[in-house]
Amino acid sequence: MTTRRPVYLDFNATTPVDKRVLAAMLPYFSEDFGNAASATHAFGRQALASVNHARQQIASLINARPNEIIFTSGATESDNIALLGVAEPYAHKGDHIITCVTEHKAILDSAKRLEKLGKRVTYLPVDAFGQVDLDQLRQAITPQTILISIMAANNEIGTVAPLREIGRIAREHGVIFHTDAAQYAGHLPLDVEALNIDLLSISAHKLYGPKGIGALYVRRENPRVDVSPVIFGGGHEQGIRSGTLNVPAIVGFGAAAEWCQAELEEEAARLRGYCARILDELSRHIEGVELNGHPTQRLPHNLNITIRGTSSSDFIALLDDVALSAGSACNAANPNPSHVICALGFGTERALSSLRLSVGRTTTLEDVDYAIGRIIEASRILQLVPA
Ligand SMILES: Cc1ncc(COP(=O)(O)O)c(C=O)c1O
Repeated sequence: MTTRRPVYLDFNATTPVDKRVLAAMLPYFSEDFGNAASATHAFGRQALASVNHARQQIASLINARPNEIIFTSGATESDNIALLGVAEPYAHKGDHIITCVTEHKAILDSAKRLEKLGKRVTYLPVDAFGQVDLDQLRQAITPQTILISIMAANNEIGTVAPLREIGRIAREHGVIFHTDAAQYAGHLPLDVEALNIDLLSISAHKLYGPKGIGALYVRRENPRVDVSPVIFGGGHEQGIRSGTLNVPAIVGFGAAAEWCQAELEEEAARLRGYCARILDELSRHIEGVELNGHPTQRLPHNLNITIRGTSSSDFIALLDDVALSAGSACNAANPNPSHVICALGFGTERALSSLRLSVGRTTTLEDVDYAIGRIIEASRILQLVPA
């Protein structure tokens, strides 16, 4: 098989819609176009049945109940609802939330907004691997703490959080636990019951579904969690997220979740192997290659490396036929060093020379070997290895 060019190694930014997912979606644009809220006739009822099927498929991916899945426009909106939406219903209990410095901007900017509204926010630091310290988390909890929001997996360095321990601590203290699982869901097993997760953000376009659709899982039992809306209107999605449901996207999201669940184990092993191969080969041929993030507690499909003494922008300029990134997609236009890599404590230089390579369902071994070759070639040009 010949390698397609450019080789796409940016699956943490977005994934292609799987062809099986696209096929499931297509009838819903024109033939089965009903409004899922128009249950007085067959068109609406059919749309509603399809939405409910998707709800089941997504609930199954995270071991939730279908009525706990609230459709949103993506993980950004889910994160906004999770943070801003707990402030009002839990104001009688307190005004303090805990999050972490390496979160996605959808969390950090929502937290800043809460601060503007007079709430208090603790931003926990992370260790050199990108994980929060559990003792620091325990110490940060006060009787006024209403929410802990710690991401399941970091979008830049791939580090996975100790979700089980965080969930246990949150539950012991009666604090709501939200996790941004945009990068994690569909790639590693996820069980909101076993992990004591109360709120969870998912995005379809990170798991081979379409863009512009996501979900917020909201625990409805043991204990019931309440969130107030940030968008108001017709009362869709139990009043948490008004707006006519995007049925084709929801159907695609459901199908994508089901395929991810079915293929998760095999795919994780394959992609983990690809990342290990890239790291081994680059370390063998180029001096000063360092892994960013946790060596084992990490996403199977993400690799973030620093090549000491280089700048990521020089690399990216040379690698015009390999699509990779210097940081997160949302920060790609931002010349500032990544707040995530800076938070690991190695200085800004390491952040400015970091590269994120992420593999996925359509990646082949040929793609991987081609990219390895091109990165080694680029380092030769940048005079890092003898010609
Ligand atoms: C960790 C994390 N949270 C939130 C988002 C935002 O997701 P969406 O694009 O669905 O709004 C992303 C996507 O870049 C992400 O990686």
